[in-house]
Amino acid sequence: MKFISKPSEGLQGEIKIPGDKSISHRALICASISEGTSKISNLQESEDVINTLNSLKQLGVNIFKENESYFVEGKGFRGLKKPENQLYFGNSGTGVRLMSGLLSIQNFSSSLTGDESLSKRPMKRIIEPLVEMGANISGSKEDTLPLHIVPSKKIIGINYEMPIASAQVKSAILFASLGAKGETKITEKSISRDHTERMFEYFGASITYSATETKLKDTEKFISQDIEVPGDFSSSAFFMVAALISKNSNITLKEVGMNPSRIALINKLKEMGGNIQVFNHSLFGKEPIADINVKSSILHACEVVPEDVPNLIDELPVLFVACSFAEGTSNFYEIEELKHKESDRLKAMQEGLDKMKINNFFEDSIFCIEGKGKDYKSPNFLAETYYDHRIAMSFAIAGLNSSSSIEISAPESINTSFPEFIDLGKTLGCNFELS
Ligand code: S3P
Repeated sequence: MKFISKPSEGLQGEIKIPGDKSISHRALICASISEGTSKISNLQESEDVINTLNSLKQLGVNIFKENESYFVEGKGFRGLKKPENQLYFGNSGTGVRLMSGLLSIQNFSSSLTGDESLSKRPMKRIIEPLVEMGANISGSKEDTLPLHIVPSKKIIGINYEMPIASAQVKSAILFASLGAKGETKITEKSISRDHTERMFEYFGASITYSATETKLKDTEKFISQDIEVPGDFSSSAFFMVAALISKNSNITLKEVGMNPSRIALINKLKEMGGNIQVFNHSLFGKEPIADINVKSSILHACEVVPEDVPNLIDELPVLFVACSFAEGTSNFYEIEELKHKESDRLKAMQEGLDKMKINNFFEDSIFCIEGKGKDYKSPNFLAETYYDHRIAMSFAIAGLNSSSSIEISAPESINTSFPEFIDLGKTLGCNFELS
């Protein structure tokens, strides 16, 4: 498969963005351990989410699709059954880390694996707190996949101070806490996304949470719920940047998740001069949503400080693209977590920016990008994506402002989170060619 992105005449139109990845994982898992049947609409049908869905099926949960919605027949906290094979989570850190928490409280053993990229990612960050809770979970010598879990006699709630801002780690602890004796309290220095807290509350858990502290008390059961998954803010980010940096653009993205712990990119792009309007505010369950209108804009450089980082961690690659077509030098502080994502995203983006002839350097924990302004056209090149969906989509957006084209390596990776990306992009006027 060959994917080429070429200069566009401008983006126009209105689209509905498919469901959020983080919320889709949580909706499936919470529904599977609730009592009764839950209906999930607008579930993200990406490879990551489908791997979690298939793992839940292997654990004995009946999940089926009818009229565009998914129905999940919940088994309660203790009703899952031992899987016959290893559970495979593909590329998904969220899938494997959240499910590790849940599997740690089951009375059967399980093993969890993933693809080449996931097999290199750090799991010590979940193993340590889960072991502290009494779980029997171990990884490879390097604390990577496969993870092996054997039943534990006693899981206890913990008081955990998070060493890094990570919603995946926080959520692994919260899922394990559903089977723990006593209260769990998690404190964070920086704020990570709170979708698990909101979903637990929706399913009836005894949970309280603020920006930096989450407390979960003994919760006996979850009651099944109907869930409408908001559009994925991180998917929207690619088209937001595309419209800002392309001439003659005016697009509207409908029903996008506006969880405050996810939307720092909007404020950053507005500070840069982006013409962005957010309207039609509403709620899907406990999650805020809204429509977003974005028009072509002249952008200026930005500063991303450490407190911003967890809130726009997944949007950094495409923000680097926006900064390349902005006036002035942008600075990003303490973005090292990027090295531990689906690829080493700092390295992958630096390589691509070098090919775009955009000066960039990483020194003393500060990443700098010298933008070349709105009229700059990137030279043609082949972007090496390291099979990372967000790297692929970021350089596809850069291609819209190239002198003739940017080719994207391994475009199949886009199916990890946004299989509709190319078709929806074309609907808006992106000059994408797939052959
Ligand atoms: C996610 C949390 C983030 C994010 C990932 C999804 C989640 O990871 O990068 O794409 O759904 O909880 P970390 O929690 O590891 O930072």
